[in-house]
Amino acid sequence: MNQDKLKSLLQQVKYPGFSKDVVTFGLIQNVQETEGAVELGVKFTTEKEEVRQQILSDIEKVLREGGYEKINIEIIQAPVKPAQPDEAAAPPSIPGVKHTIAVASGKGGVGKSTVAANLAAALRKQGHSVGILDLDVYGPSLPITMGVHETPKVQEGNKLQPIQKFDMSLMSLGFLLNDNSPVIWRGAMVSKMVSQFLFDVNWGDIDYLILDLPPGTGDVQLTLVQQIALTGAIIVTTPQDLALKDVERGANMFSKVNTPVLGIVENMSYHICPSCGHKSQIFSTGGGTKESERLHVPLLAKIPLNEEIMKAGESGEPLVIYLPESEAATMFRTLAQKVTELVEK
Ligand SMILES: Nc1ncnc2c1ncn2[C@@H]1O[C@H](COP(=O)(O)OP(=O)(O)O)[C@@H](O)[C@H]1O
Ligand SMILES: [Mg+2]
Repeated sequence: MNQDKLKSLLQQVKYPGFSKDVVTFGLIQNVQETEGAVELGVKFTTEKEEVRQQILSDIEKVLREGGYEKINIEIIQAPVKPAQPDEAAAPPSIPGVKHTIAVASGKGGVGKSTVAANLAAALRKQGHSVGILDLDVYGPSLPITMGVHETPKVQEGNKLQPIQKFDMSLMSLGFLLNDNSPVIWRGAMVSKMVSQFLFDVNWGDIDYLILDLPPGTGDVQLTLVQQIALTGAIIVTTPQDLALKDVERGANMFSKVNTPVLGIVENMSYHICPSCGHKSQIFSTGGGTKESERLHVPLLAKIPLNEEIMKAGESGEPLVIYLPESEAATMFRTLAQKVTELVEK
C-alpha cells in the first residue's frame, strides 16, 4: 500500500523542462519504507547541477508533504554522455569511418592526387584499413592512378559499393562518369553527387578515409568540407606556389570549419639527376619551411620531382606499391607515419 502511495507522490515530481515525471523517466530506484522513514535511490544521467538540485528538492518536498519526515536519498550516477558542444551545428561523420583526412591544394597539377594515393597506400602498408574518396570532379584521378576501370555496384539500400584495389576501398566520380560526359553536366551533378558520395557509399569500418579534394580553396571546397567532420587536412603545394597565397588560403578555409591543418607537403621540391645524382633546386628553395613556420604547421614532407613517381602514376599503381624500395616511397611512408602520430595526438 505504502509503495503505491510513495509512487504516486514521486510521480508528482516532473523532470525539469519536461512534462513527464521522474518515475516515468526511470530515475527512481529501490524505494523502501520502514517506520515512516523513506529510503530511495535517484539515478542521474545528467551532470547539470541545477537540474539535480531541483529534482532532489522536489522529491523531498513531495515526500514531506506526504507525511514522511526521515528521507534518505542515495544518488546514483549513471554514465554521462560526454558533452557535445554545438551538437546540432557540427557536421556528421561518415558512418564507420574513424579518421577523415582531406588532401587539398591551391591549384591543380601540384601532385595532390599523387600524395593522396601514396599516403593511402602507405597507411595501408602500416596495417590500417583505408579508403580513398576522389572528389575532383573535373579531373578525377583514381581511374588512372589506381588503374580502375570498373563501375561500382549499387547494393541493397541504394548504397554504392566501393571498388576494392590494393586492399583499399576506392570511390571516384571518375568511376561513374564516362570520358565523354560534358563538363557542364558534370558541374550540375557536383553538389548532388558529393553528398551521395559522402553518405551513400558503403565504406564499412575503416581507419582512414583520404579525400582527394578538387583543386582550389573556394566556395565549392568550403561547402564540401562543411558537409562532414574532418579529422584534419594536408595542403600540397610546390615550392614556387609557396610564394603565392595558396597555403594561407587553404589554412583559412579549414580554420573556418574548425579543421586542423596537419601540415604541408611540398611536392616537386627538388630534382635528383638520375645519371649523376646531383640534387638541383629547380624551384626557389626554403619556401615550404618559411611558410610552415609562419602558419605554425609542420612541413610534413619534401617530395622530389622524380621520374619514378611519374611512371608509377601512369602505371596505375602508387609508387609505394610500384617501387616500395625507392627513396620517394620511403618518404611517403614517413609522411604516413607522421600523419598517424598527429591524428592520434
Ligand atoms: N614528385 C613528382 N615527380 C614527378 N611527377 C610527379 C610528381 N608529383 C606528381 N607528378 C605527376 O604530375 C602530374 C600531376 O599530378 P597529380 O597528382 O595528378 O596532381 P593534382 O592532383 O594536384 O592535379 C601527374 O602526371 C603525376 O604523375
Ligand atoms: Mg588530382
